[in-house]
Parts: sequence; structure tokens; C-alpha cells
Amino acid sequence: IRHFLGEGESDKGDYPHHMLKEIYEQPETVANAMRGRLDDSDSTAHFGGLNLTAKQLRNIDRVVMTACGTSYHAGLVGEYLFEELARLPVEVEYASEFRYRNPPMDPRTILVAITQSGETADTLAAMREGKRMGHPALAICNAVGSTIAREADGGVYLHAGPEIGVASTKAFTSQSTVLTMLALYFGRTRHLSSLQGQRIIDELRALPDAIRKALGCHEQVKKIANRYAECNNFLYLGRQYLYPVALEGALKLKEISYIHAEGYPAAEMKHGPIALVDPHTPSVFLVPRGNVFDKVMSNMQEIKARRGPVIAVCSEGDREVATVADDMITVPDVPEYLQPIVTAIPLQLLAYEIAVLRGCDVDKPRNLAKSVTVE
Ligand code: G6P
Repeated sequence: IRHFLGEGESDKGDYPHHMLKEIYEQPETVANAMRGRLDDSDSTAHFGGLNLTAKQLRNIDRVVMTACGTSYHAGLVGEYLFEELARLPVEVEYASEFRYRNPPMDPRTILVAITQSGETADTLAAMREGKRMGHPALAICNAVGSTIAREADGGVYLHAGPEIGVASTKAFTSQSTVLTMLALYFGRTRHLSSLQGQRIIDELRALPDAIRKALGCHEQVKKIANRYAECNNFLYLGRQYLYPVALEGALKLKEISYIHAEGYPAAEMKHGPIALVDPHTPSVFLVPRGNVFDKVMSNMQEIKARRGPVIAVCSEGDREVATVADDMITVPDVPEYLQPIVTAIPLQLLAYEIAVLRGCDVDKPRNLAKSVTVE
């Protein structure tokens, strides 16, 4: 049968594109990332392959994460997670920048390379550079046996299965899940109590179901895509944990629909991007209930006051958002540190639907490669 099907066509099942199939796989892929790794007896996460001694683990006092593209955005989510759950300082560096820098690094710093393919040239070079300086390097990787997986001192596999769509979707949510578990693990060796650890475990266990519910927004998203598919500029705005998701939402739209989109921290938009706002420039706001809800609401009002259309990704039944937003996409309530995973889903679907409406080649966007193995 393979002879009659184009390469990679054979396993899309009933889905018109790999990307849509991969978006819909996320309840399972996130569950796979957690399988066998949550430990109720110690209220922590466990990983088979970190390959660090207890002493090395205790000594770590700083983390440098390095990656490219979507994996870099997962790293930014990781920064917030490690800061909150493990109280560890994190820096996230584009691998292409890190490899040519010479930053002073304390011997107690570990390097974490984040990569779906395990073959990205810049990420590999950045990891080698970190190792050369004597830092232990962990890889968070999907492709088993890939170069980065082999060269890292230790690491965590995503177990998300092959990702074929060039625009990364399920890898991002799995990377964020693994980073949450790593933050839990490091947190438990530091200041998190067993009760706090157990609460996080319970919340993680509820995550696949929350993703399943988030996928229920697809019909809302289709309608919204129809309304805005012809716009040529989009802003994506979020704060704190959702700032990296704003970057990722904008990247998805750019990659597959060729629409110019920018992600920004929601409050920073008044220092420049707000000049772009007009009735043809929609702003996608990430505004589920949480600590900065009121702050994001007021950023949303600033956009409305300049006649910019507002699409809000918000909590179910949020009446306050409804008074300002033109369109709403609802997601289930989860704790703030898990919101990046749940709110990424509607943004993946929005980019997908807009790209389909514009007749773009969703799985193989122009000029892009699934894995960039050259510098
Ligand atoms: C390419 C892909 C992106 C991906 C990036 C990093 O640009 O098109 O989807 O996020 O590489 O890839 P990696 O395999 O290292 O995660």
C-alpha cells in the first residue's frame, strides 16, 4: 500500500493533515510523557536516565536551557516553572546565540538542551560547547537515539511518537510537561513539602483530561478563523506563564499561514506594538483566571480603546472577558503553572484553521524544514 501513498501519507488516519492529527494526539502524548514517572510514595517525579549523582544534583544552583524555535518557547515556560517550583535560577538561550558566546558559568550550572528531533545543528553545537566547559548536559528530546540524545550526559525522552507536521505541536506540550516534572523533582530535593509535591502530582494527572476538554474549542476556533483569516497582522499577548505561549501562538501562525504575527508580554505592547493596532489587526489575548487576570484585562481594554479586534482565550463562563472581547475561546481551569499547556491548544488550532482557509500547505510550509541540521 505504501507504494500508492505519498511519503508520510500513510499514517494520518482520518485526519486531513499530520498537524491536526498531532494536535488531537495531545491528551495521549502528554499522558505518555508522565507514564511511570510520577511517584506517590515520595511525592515527586522520577526519571530513569538523568545520570547525575546525588551530589551533582544537590549542587546544582543554576540552569541554562538552550533550544531553537518551538523548543525554545518550551524552555521559556521551563524558566517560570523552575523559578516557582524549584526556586532555581534559569536562563534560556537561543542555541544559535549560546554557541558563539562565552558566558561566565559557575561549575554548579547544568545545561538542558530541549529538542524534538535531537538533530538541530545549533542545539547540538550549544550542548557540545556547554559540555566542553565541563557542565553536565541533559537533553529533553523526542527522537530516540538521535545525536543530541546520544551525546547528552543524561536526559528525558518525551515518548510523544513521531512528529511529522513541520510546525511543532505535541512536542511543545510534552516538553512543557517534562519540564514541569523536572521542576517538581528539583523542587522536592529543595523546598517543596511532600503535600505540595502530591498536589502537583494530582494536578498533573488531571492534565490529559483538561487537554481533551480544551480540544472541545475547535468549533469556536473555526468560526473565529473564518472571521479573521484575511487579516495580515496579528498580535499575541500574554503575561507570566502565558508570555511564552503568546510567542508560540504567533510562531505557529507565521509558520503555516505566512501571516505576520508578533508575540509580546501583554503590558509591553504599549512600548511599540500598540502603534500597529487598527480595526484590521486582531490581538489574541491569553487571559484565563489567575494572578494577573486584572492586569491582562486592563491591557485588553487598551487595545479595545484603539479599535483593535480582541480574541480572548479565557476560562469557561468568564463574564468579565465577555464585556471586552469580540470573540472568546474557552479553556478549562487548571493551575497557573499548567496553563501554558492548555492554552497552547486553541492557538495551534487557530493557526491550523487559518492556514487551511488560506490554502497553505499546512504540513510542509514553504522555506521551513522539520529539522534544521545545517547552521
Ligand atoms: C525547526 C522546526 C521547528 C522546531 C525547530 C527546533 O525550525 O521547523 O518546528 O521547533 O526546528 O527543532 P527541534 O527538533 O530542535 O525541537
